[in-house]
Amino acid sequence: MSGVTRAVRRTVLSVVRRHPSAEEPGFDPMIVLGALPVPLILLDAEDRFRYANQAAEQFLGISLGQLTQMSLHDVLPADSPLFLLIGQLRTGVTSIADHELSFEGPRLRKTGISVQGTALTEDPGSVVLVLQDGTMARALDRQISARTAARSITGMATILAHEVKNPLSGIRGAAQLLEASVGESDRELAVLIRDEADRIRALVDRMEDFGEKPILMAPVNIHRVLEHVRRVAATGFAADIRFSENYDPSLPPVLGNRDQLVQVLLNLVKNAAEALQDIGGTGEITLITRYQHGLRLGTSASEARVHLPLLVVVRDSGPGISDDLKAHLFEPFVSGRPAGQGLGLSLVAKIIADHGGLIEVESMPGRTEFRLHLPMVSDEDGE
Ligand SMILES: Nc1ncnc2c1ncn2[C@@H]1O[C@H](COP(=O)(O)OP(=O)(O)OP(=O)(O)O)[C@@H](O)[C@H]1O
Ligand SMILES: [Mg+2]
Repeated sequence: MSGVTRAVRRTVLSVVRRHPSAEEPGFDPMIVLGALPVPLILLDAEDRFRYANQAAEQFLGISLGQLTQMSLHDVLPADSPLFLLIGQLRTGVTSIADHELSFEGPRLRKTGISVQGTALTEDPGSVVLVLQDGTMARALDRQISARTAARSITGMATILAHEVKNPLSGIRGAAQLLEASVGESDRELAVLIRDEADRIRALVDRMEDFGEKPILMAPVNIHRVLEHVRRVAATGFAADIRFSENYDPSLPPVLGNRDQLVQVLLNLVKNAAEALQDIGGTGEITLITRYQHGLRLGTSASEARVHLPLLVVVRDSGPGISDDLKAHLFEPFVSGRPAGQGLGLSLVAKIIADHGGLIEVESMPGRTEFRLHLPMVSDEDGE
Protein backbone atom coordinates (compact mmCIF):
# COMPACT_ATOMS: atom_id res chain seq x y z
CA MET A 1 0.00 0.00 0.00
CA SER A 2 1.49 3.35 -0.92
CA GLY A 3 2.10 6.12 1.57
CA VAL A 4 -0.62 8.30 0.05
CA THR A 5 -3.22 5.54 0.19
CA ARG A 6 -2.28 4.71 3.78
CA ALA A 7 -2.47 8.32 4.86
CA VAL A 8 -5.79 8.89 3.12
CA ARG A 9 -7.20 5.70 4.63
CA ARG A 10 -6.29 6.83 8.13
CA THR A 11 -7.66 10.31 7.54
CA VAL A 12 -10.92 9.17 6.02
CA LEU A 13 -11.46 6.62 8.75
CA SER A 14 -11.07 9.26 11.36
CA VAL A 15 -13.59 11.47 9.55
CA VAL A 16 -16.15 8.75 8.96
CA ARG A 17 -15.90 7.14 12.35
CA ARG A 18 -15.35 10.36 14.22
CA HIS A 19 -12.41 8.78 15.99
CA PRO A 20 -11.55 10.54 19.27
CA SER A 21 -8.30 11.88 17.78
CA ALA A 22 -10.38 13.73 15.19
CA GLU A 23 -12.07 15.62 17.99
CA GLU A 24 -8.84 17.17 19.22
CA PRO A 25 -9.21 20.94 19.35
CA GLY A 26 -7.66 22.66 16.37
CA PHE A 27 -7.60 19.56 14.21
CA ASP A 28 -10.36 19.07 11.70
CA PRO A 29 -9.60 16.27 9.23
CA MET A 30 -12.36 17.53 6.94
CA ILE A 31 -10.35 20.70 6.34
CA VAL A 32 -7.27 18.63 5.52
CA LEU A 33 -9.24 16.44 3.11
CA GLY A 34 -10.96 19.43 1.55
CA ALA A 35 -7.65 21.16 0.90
CA LEU A 36 -5.89 18.07 -0.46
CA PRO A 37 -5.00 19.05 -4.04
CA VAL A 38 -5.66 15.47 -5.19
CA PRO A 39 -9.19 14.31 -6.07
CA LEU A 40 -10.47 11.91 -3.39
CA ILE A 41 -13.86 10.22 -3.21
CA LEU A 42 -15.54 7.90 -0.77
CA LEU A 43 -18.17 5.47 -2.08
CA ASP A 44 -20.57 3.34 -0.04
CA ALA A 45 -21.29 -0.34 -0.72
CA GLU A 46 -23.80 0.64 -3.47
CA ASP A 47 -21.31 2.98 -5.22
CA ARG A 48 -23.13 6.06 -3.96
CA PHE A 49 -20.95 9.09 -3.26
CA ARG A 50 -20.55 9.70 0.47
CA TYR A 51 -17.83 12.28 0.22
CA ALA A 52 -15.75 14.10 -2.40
CA ASN A 53 -13.12 16.73 -1.63
CA GLN A 54 -12.86 20.02 -3.54
CA ALA A 55 -10.31 18.65 -6.01
CA ALA A 56 -12.71 15.78 -6.77
CA GLU A 57 -15.62 18.21 -7.28
CA GLN A 58 -13.46 20.06 -9.84
CA PHE A 59 -12.24 16.87 -11.46
CA LEU A 60 -15.79 15.53 -11.89
CA GLY A 61 -17.27 18.96 -12.61
CA ILE A 62 -20.05 18.27 -10.06
CA SER A 63 -20.59 19.88 -6.65
CA LEU A 64 -20.51 17.84 -3.45
CA GLY A 65 -24.19 18.70 -2.83
CA GLN A 66 -25.15 17.08 -6.14
CA LEU A 67 -22.69 14.21 -5.80
CA THR A 68 -24.16 13.01 -2.52
CA GLN A 69 -27.44 12.45 -4.42
CA MET A 70 -25.65 10.44 -7.09
CA SER A 71 -23.84 7.17 -7.63
CA LEU A 72 -20.70 6.46 -9.63
CA HIS A 73 -22.98 4.84 -12.22
CA ASP A 74 -24.42 8.29 -13.02
CA VAL A 75 -20.93 9.45 -13.95
CA LEU A 76 -19.33 6.45 -15.66
CA PRO A 77 -20.68 3.77 -18.01
CA ALA A 78 -21.18 0.28 -16.55
CA ASP A 79 -18.25 -1.14 -18.53
CA SER A 80 -15.76 1.35 -17.07
CA PRO A 81 -12.66 -0.51 -15.80
CA LEU A 82 -13.01 1.41 -12.55
CA PHE A 83 -15.94 -0.82 -11.53
CA LEU A 84 -13.74 -3.90 -11.94
CA LEU A 85 -11.18 -2.36 -9.62
CA ILE A 86 -13.82 -1.44 -7.07
CA GLY A 87 -15.17 -5.01 -7.33
CA GLN A 88 -11.72 -6.34 -6.45
CA LEU A 89 -11.59 -4.14 -3.37
CA ARG A 90 -14.90 -5.59 -2.23
CA THR A 91 -13.69 -9.16 -2.64
CA GLY A 92 -10.91 -8.78 -0.12
CA VAL A 93 -8.09 -7.01 -1.99
CA THR A 94 -7.20 -4.21 0.40
CA SER A 95 -5.69 -1.78 -2.05
CA ILE A 96 -5.40 -1.35 -5.80
CA ALA A 97 -3.65 0.99 -8.22
CA ASP A 98 -4.12 1.35 -11.95
CA HIS A 99 -2.82 3.82 -14.49
CA GLU A 100 -3.74 5.26 -17.87
CA LEU A 101 -7.47 4.75 -17.38
CA SER A 102 -10.00 6.54 -19.58
CA PHE A 103 -13.10 8.02 -17.99
CA GLU A 104 -15.73 8.58 -20.62
CA GLY A 105 -19.22 9.14 -19.39
CA PRO A 106 -22.07 11.50 -20.22
CA ARG A 107 -20.53 14.23 -18.02
CA LEU A 108 -16.89 13.24 -18.01
CA ARG A 109 -14.22 12.80 -20.66
CA LYS A 110 -10.72 12.30 -19.36
CA THR A 111 -7.84 10.10 -20.39
CA GLY A 112 -4.56 9.09 -18.74
CA ILE A 113 -5.98 8.90 -15.21
CA SER A 114 -4.23 7.03 -12.39
CA VAL A 115 -6.36 5.57 -9.61
CA GLN A 116 -5.42 4.34 -6.17
CA GLY A 117 -8.08 2.70 -4.07
CA THR A 118 -8.46 1.12 -0.70
CA ALA A 119 -11.26 -0.78 1.03
CA LEU A 120 -12.55 0.43 4.38
CA THR A 121 -12.55 -2.82 6.30
CA GLU A 122 -14.28 -1.12 9.23
CA ASP A 123 -17.17 -0.19 6.94
CA PRO A 124 -17.67 -3.20 4.64
CA GLY A 125 -18.25 -2.35 0.98
CA SER A 126 -17.06 1.26 1.28
CA VAL A 127 -14.05 2.27 -0.78
CA VAL A 128 -11.84 5.33 -0.96
CA LEU A 129 -10.48 6.32 -4.37
CA VAL A 130 -7.70 8.78 -5.09
CA LEU A 131 -7.55 9.96 -8.70
CA GLN A 132 -4.69 11.66 -10.48
CA ASP A 133 -4.62 13.30 -13.85
CA GLY A 134 -1.20 12.55 -15.33
CA THR A 135 -1.67 14.74 -18.43
CA MET A 136 0.41 17.63 -17.16
CA ALA A 137 3.32 15.45 -15.96
CA ARG A 138 3.38 13.67 -19.30
CA ALA A 139 3.24 16.98 -21.18
CA LEU A 140 6.32 18.11 -19.26
CA ASP A 141 8.19 14.87 -19.95
CA ARG A 142 7.37 15.10 -23.63
CA GLN A 143 8.35 18.71 -23.83
CA ILE A 144 11.79 17.92 -22.45
CA SER A 145 12.35 15.13 -24.98
CA ALA A 146 10.93 17.26 -27.82
CA ARG A 147 13.40 19.97 -26.93
CA THR A 148 16.32 17.55 -27.02
CA ALA A 149 15.15 16.24 -30.40
CA ALA A 150 14.72 19.79 -31.72
CA ARG A 151 18.33 20.52 -30.75
CA SER A 152 19.56 17.60 -32.79
CA ILE A 153 17.69 19.02 -35.80
CA THR A 154 19.37 22.37 -35.22
CA GLY A 155 22.79 20.74 -35.57
CA MET A 156 21.70 18.75 -38.60
CA ALA A 157 20.17 21.82 -40.27
CA THR A 158 23.45 23.71 -39.92
CA ILE A 159 25.33 20.92 -41.66
CA LEU A 160 22.66 20.56 -44.35
CA ALA A 161 22.63 24.30 -44.99
CA HIS A 162 26.35 24.21 -45.75
CA GLU A 163 26.79 20.83 -47.32
CA VAL A 164 23.52 20.36 -49.19
CA LYS A 165 22.05 23.72 -50.10
CA ASN A 166 25.03 24.92 -52.18
CA PRO A 167 25.48 21.77 -54.28
CA LEU A 168 21.70 21.62 -54.54
CA SER A 169 21.48 24.99 -56.22
CA GLY A 170 24.14 23.77 -58.66
CA ILE A 171 22.08 20.67 -59.42
CA ARG A 172 18.96 22.76 -59.86
CA GLY A 173 20.67 25.23 -62.20
CA ALA A 174 22.09 22.39 -64.29
CA ALA A 175 18.67 20.74 -64.55
CA GLN A 176 17.18 24.04 -65.71
CA LEU A 177 19.82 24.36 -68.43
CA LEU A 178 19.10 20.81 -69.55
CA GLU A 179 15.38 21.52 -69.63
CA ALA A 180 16.01 24.16 -72.28
CA SER A 181 18.39 22.10 -74.40
CA VAL A 182 17.28 18.46 -74.35
CA GLY A 183 14.55 16.84 -76.43
CA GLU A 184 10.96 16.39 -75.31
CA SER A 185 11.42 12.89 -73.86
CA ASP A 186 14.33 13.88 -71.59
CA ARG A 187 12.80 17.19 -70.56
CA GLU A 188 10.48 15.37 -68.18
CA LEU A 189 13.53 13.93 -66.37
CA ALA A 190 15.14 17.36 -66.09
CA VAL A 191 11.89 18.77 -64.63
CA LEU A 192 11.83 15.89 -62.15
CA ILE A 193 15.37 16.72 -60.99
CA ARG A 194 14.42 20.39 -60.57
CA ASP A 195 11.24 19.60 -58.60
CA GLU A 196 13.00 17.16 -56.30
CA ALA A 197 15.82 19.65 -55.70
CA ASP A 198 13.14 22.21 -54.76
CA ARG A 199 11.55 19.72 -52.36
CA ILE A 200 14.86 19.08 -50.59
CA ARG A 201 15.53 22.80 -50.40
CA ALA A 202 12.10 23.42 -48.83
CA LEU A 203 12.83 20.72 -46.23
CA VAL A 204 16.24 22.19 -45.37
CA ASP A 205 14.68 25.68 -45.16
CA ARG A 206 12.09 24.35 -42.72
CA MET A 207 14.73 22.66 -40.63
CA GLU A 208 16.54 25.98 -40.39
CA ASP A 209 13.50 27.30 -38.50
CA PHE A 210 14.81 25.24 -35.58
CA GLY A 211 17.92 27.40 -35.38
CA GLU A 212 18.97 28.73 -31.99
CA LYS A 213 18.60 32.42 -32.83
CA PRO A 214 18.06 34.81 -29.94
CA ILE A 215 14.36 35.62 -29.87
CA LEU A 216 13.01 39.02 -29.03
CA MET A 217 10.18 38.83 -26.51
CA ALA A 218 7.62 41.60 -26.21
CA PRO A 219 4.01 41.98 -25.12
CA VAL A 220 1.82 40.29 -27.73
CA ASN A 221 -1.94 40.57 -28.06
CA ILE A 222 -2.79 36.91 -28.64
CA HIS A 223 -6.25 37.71 -30.02
CA ARG A 224 -4.67 39.70 -32.86
CA VAL A 225 -2.37 36.77 -33.55
CA LEU A 226 -5.33 34.36 -33.57
CA GLU A 227 -7.35 36.60 -35.88
CA HIS A 228 -4.39 36.93 -38.27
CA VAL A 229 -3.96 33.14 -38.33
CA ARG A 230 -7.67 32.61 -38.85
CA ARG A 231 -7.66 35.04 -41.79
CA VAL A 232 -4.62 33.40 -43.39
CA ALA A 233 -6.28 29.99 -42.92
CA ALA A 234 -9.69 31.08 -44.18
CA THR A 235 -8.26 32.60 -47.35
CA GLY A 236 -5.90 29.68 -48.00
CA PHE A 237 -5.56 26.13 -46.75
CA ALA A 238 -8.77 26.13 -44.66
CA ALA A 239 -11.11 28.00 -47.01
CA ASP A 240 -13.68 25.21 -46.69
CA ILE A 241 -13.55 24.93 -42.89
CA ARG A 242 -15.89 26.55 -40.32
CA PHE A 243 -14.25 28.47 -37.46
CA SER A 244 -15.65 29.59 -34.14
CA GLU A 245 -14.04 31.70 -31.43
CA ASN A 246 -14.47 31.74 -27.72
CA TYR A 247 -12.19 34.47 -26.39
CA ASP A 248 -11.72 35.98 -22.96
CA PRO A 249 -11.58 39.67 -23.99
CA SER A 250 -9.89 40.73 -20.75
CA LEU A 251 -6.87 38.49 -21.34
CA PRO A 252 -3.60 40.35 -20.69
CA PRO A 253 -0.78 40.31 -23.29
CA VAL A 254 1.43 37.25 -23.70
CA LEU A 255 5.15 37.69 -23.22
CA GLY A 256 6.37 36.29 -26.50
CA ASN A 257 7.54 36.66 -30.04
CA ARG A 258 4.68 37.57 -32.36
CA ASP A 259 6.03 35.91 -35.51
CA GLN A 260 6.85 32.69 -33.71
CA LEU A 261 3.41 32.58 -32.08
CA VAL A 262 1.88 33.01 -35.55
CA GLN A 263 4.00 30.07 -36.72
CA VAL A 264 2.81 27.93 -33.77
CA LEU A 265 -0.86 28.67 -34.32
CA LEU A 266 -0.64 28.30 -38.10
CA ASN A 267 0.81 24.82 -37.64
CA LEU A 268 -1.89 23.80 -35.15
CA VAL A 269 -4.72 25.23 -37.26
CA LYS A 270 -3.29 23.62 -40.41
CA ASN A 271 -3.16 20.20 -38.75
CA ALA A 272 -6.73 20.67 -37.49
CA ALA A 273 -7.90 21.71 -40.98
CA GLU A 274 -6.18 18.69 -42.55
CA ALA A 275 -7.85 16.39 -40.00
CA LEU A 276 -11.26 17.87 -40.88
CA GLN A 277 -10.56 17.68 -44.62
CA ASP A 278 -9.93 13.95 -44.11
CA ILE A 279 -13.58 13.64 -43.12
CA GLY A 280 -14.83 15.76 -46.00
CA GLY A 281 -14.42 19.22 -44.47
CA THR A 282 -17.30 18.83 -42.05
CA GLY A 283 -16.95 19.90 -38.43
CA GLU A 284 -15.25 22.97 -37.07
CA ILE A 285 -12.14 24.47 -35.54
CA THR A 286 -12.63 26.36 -32.27
CA LEU A 287 -10.12 28.90 -31.00
CA ILE A 288 -10.33 29.53 -27.26
CA THR A 289 -8.50 31.83 -24.83
CA ARG A 290 -8.78 31.75 -21.04
CA TYR A 291 -7.11 33.13 -17.95
CA GLN A 292 -6.15 30.29 -15.66
CA HIS A 293 -4.77 30.46 -12.15
CA GLY A 294 -2.45 28.03 -10.55
CA LEU A 295 -0.07 26.59 -13.15
CA ARG A 296 3.55 27.26 -12.25
CA LEU A 297 6.58 25.77 -13.89
CA GLY A 298 10.37 25.83 -13.56
CA THR A 299 12.05 27.06 -16.73
CA SER A 300 15.31 25.72 -18.02
CA ALA A 301 16.50 29.27 -18.64
CA SER A 302 16.51 30.11 -14.94
CA GLU A 303 15.80 28.55 -11.60
CA ALA A 304 12.80 30.83 -11.18
CA ARG A 305 9.32 29.38 -11.35
CA VAL A 306 7.12 31.07 -13.92
CA HIS A 307 3.42 31.51 -13.78
CA LEU A 308 1.62 30.37 -16.95
CA PRO A 309 -1.84 31.86 -16.64
CA LEU A 310 -2.69 32.34 -20.34
CA LEU A 311 -4.38 29.40 -21.98
CA VAL A 312 -4.82 29.23 -25.76
CA VAL A 313 -6.68 26.24 -27.17
CA VAL A 314 -7.00 25.00 -30.75
CA ARG A 315 -9.77 22.42 -30.86
CA ASP A 316 -11.16 20.47 -33.79
CA SER A 317 -13.97 17.98 -34.17
CA GLY A 318 -11.97 15.70 -36.46
CA PRO A 319 -11.26 11.98 -36.19
CA GLY A 320 -8.55 12.33 -33.53
CA ILE A 321 -4.90 11.31 -33.41
CA SER A 322 -4.17 7.63 -33.78
CA ASP A 323 -2.79 5.86 -30.69
CA ASP A 324 0.49 4.84 -32.31
CA LEU A 325 1.24 8.49 -33.21
CA LYS A 326 0.29 9.93 -29.83
CA ALA A 327 3.43 8.80 -27.98
CA HIS A 328 5.78 10.41 -30.52
CA LEU A 329 3.68 13.33 -31.69
CA PHE A 330 6.16 16.09 -30.89
CA GLU A 331 9.20 14.29 -32.25
CA PRO A 332 10.63 15.44 -35.59
CA PHE A 333 9.78 13.53 -38.78
CA VAL A 334 6.77 11.82 -37.18
CA SER A 335 3.83 12.13 -39.54
CA GLY A 336 0.58 10.33 -40.19
CA ARG A 337 0.13 11.85 -43.63
CA PRO A 338 1.67 10.68 -46.89
CA ALA A 339 2.98 14.14 -47.83
CA GLY A 340 3.71 15.34 -44.28
CA GLN A 341 7.23 16.29 -43.26
CA GLY A 342 6.39 15.68 -39.60
CA LEU A 343 8.10 18.90 -38.57
CA GLY A 344 5.08 21.04 -37.61
CA LEU A 345 4.45 19.86 -34.06
CA SER A 346 8.14 19.44 -33.34
CA LEU A 347 8.67 23.11 -34.19
CA VAL A 348 5.57 24.08 -32.18
CA ALA A 349 6.94 22.25 -29.11
CA LYS A 350 10.33 23.91 -29.50
CA ILE A 351 8.90 27.43 -29.81
CA ILE A 352 6.59 26.95 -26.82
CA ALA A 353 9.51 25.61 -24.77
CA ASP A 354 11.62 28.64 -25.82
CA HIS A 355 8.77 30.81 -24.50
CA GLY A 356 8.98 29.00 -21.15
CA GLY A 357 5.46 27.67 -21.81
CA LEU A 358 3.88 24.24 -21.97
CA ILE A 359 1.87 22.38 -24.61
CA GLU A 360 -0.61 19.61 -23.86
CA VAL A 361 -2.72 17.52 -26.15
CA GLU A 362 -5.90 15.57 -25.58
CA SER A 363 -7.42 13.65 -28.45
CA MET A 364 -10.29 11.27 -29.00
CA PRO A 365 -12.55 10.65 -31.98
CA GLY A 366 -14.62 13.80 -32.45
CA ARG A 367 -12.43 16.08 -30.34
CA THR A 368 -8.76 16.97 -30.48
CA GLU A 369 -7.42 19.77 -28.37
CA PHE A 370 -3.97 21.37 -28.29
CA ARG A 371 -3.60 23.57 -25.18
CA LEU A 372 -0.85 26.17 -24.92
CA HIS A 373 0.01 27.52 -21.46
CA LEU A 374 1.86 30.80 -21.89
CA PRO A 375 3.46 33.39 -19.63
CA MET A 376 2.00 36.87 -19.29
CA VAL A 377 3.87 40.15 -19.22
CA SER A 378 4.96 41.03 -15.69
CA ASP A 379 6.06 44.39 -14.27
CA GLU A 380 9.75 43.48 -14.71
CA ASP A 381 9.28 42.97 -18.44
CA GLY A 382 9.20 46.72 -18.87
CA GLU A 383 5.53 47.03 -19.74
N1 LIG B 1 -5.61 17.97 -35.01
C1 LIG B 1 -5.17 16.77 -35.42
N2 LIG B 1 -6.05 15.76 -35.67
C2 LIG B 1 -5.60 14.55 -36.08
N3 LIG B 1 -4.30 14.24 -36.28
C3 LIG B 1 -3.40 15.19 -36.06
C4 LIG B 1 -3.77 16.50 -35.61
N4 LIG B 1 -2.64 17.23 -35.46
C5 LIG B 1 -1.62 16.42 -35.80
N5 LIG B 1 -2.06 15.20 -36.17
C6 LIG B 1 -1.24 14.05 -36.60
O1 LIG B 1 0.08 14.28 -36.16
C7 LIG B 1 0.99 14.18 -37.27
C8 LIG B 1 2.18 15.08 -37.02
O2 LIG B 1 1.83 16.44 -37.19
P1 LIG B 1 2.95 17.48 -37.66
O3 LIG B 1 2.30 18.81 -37.81
O4 LIG B 1 4.12 17.38 -36.74
O5 LIG B 1 3.42 16.91 -39.05
P2 LIG B 1 2.64 16.89 -40.46
O6 LIG B 1 1.41 17.73 -40.36
O7 LIG B 1 2.47 15.48 -40.86
O8 LIG B 1 3.71 17.56 -41.44
P3 LIG B 1 4.15 19.10 -41.49
O9 LIG B 1 5.62 19.09 -41.18
O10 LIG B 1 3.86 19.52 -42.87
O11 LIG B 1 3.38 19.86 -40.46
C9 LIG B 1 0.16 14.51 -38.48
O12 LIG B 1 0.70 13.93 -39.64
C10 LIG B 1 -1.21 13.91 -38.13
O13 LIG B 1 -1.22 12.54 -38.43
MG1 LIG C 1 1.51 19.72 -39.64
